[in-house]
Amino acid sequence: TTIACIFDLDGVLVDTAVYHYQAWKKLANSLGFDFSEAQNEQLKGVNRMRSLDMILNWGRVTKTAAEKEELATLKNSWYVDMINKMSVSEVLPGSLNLLKALKAQGIKIALGSASKNSGLILERTELAHFFDAIVDGNAVTTSKPDPEVFIKGAELLNAAAADCIVFEDAAAGVQAAIAADMAVIGIGTAANLPGADEYYKDLSAITVEGLINLVKSKHS
Ligand code: G6P
Ligand code: MG
Repeated sequence: TTIACIFDLDGVLVDTAVYHYQAWKKLANSLGFDFSEAQNEQLKGVNRMRSLDMILNWGRVTKTAAEKEELATLKNSWYVDMINKMSVSEVLPGSLNLLKALKAQGIKIALGSASKNSGLILERTELAHFFDAIVDGNAVTTSKPDPEVFIKGAELLNAAAADCIVFEDAAAGVQAAIAADMAVIGIGTAANLPGADEYYKDLSAITVEGLINLVKSKHS
């Protein structure tokens, strides 16, 4: 069995989910309201503008399109300040070992992220060289849960959807993988990520053999 792996970035390979949360929280606070950690879960995997719309809605705040552009740019400037200081120490447990094991076996690897900052993050964390294809927020027009990002990743890897495994920490991302007819490993819990095939707290317990078995069992 040939498999191909498509990794989400924020919260799967690197610990940036917390930076997104801090920056959005700061923006909401500056507008005079707050949102909960449970609400923050709903922002994971969702692109920048859509995230802003959800947050403004929670705060019952209405803004013009021009004002929203400014707010999104402000949030991103805070976020970029944080990721600019990242190093390889912020690669999440198990990520490096799994990427190396996949590479050693000749398994193709793609990035499937909603982020427009993926280039900077991959560079700061020294992960860029592992990827055969990169599909990020600059390459897609629709946000997860739409499957576009993963379908494009599979195309660039020349892989059939049935051979792909997506790694996701976001409910929207798990839905996107399901919509793309791909196997999906949830980094998190079944409560937060309904519908994934398997759940792990991070990538450290995942083996190439286990991934091959997952794809085989999905086919049968
Ligand atoms: C990822 C994160 C989201 C973030 C999105 C866009 O999917 O999980 O929280 O909103 O990327 O990121 P960007 O870096 O383009 O603002
Ligand atoms: Mg994520």
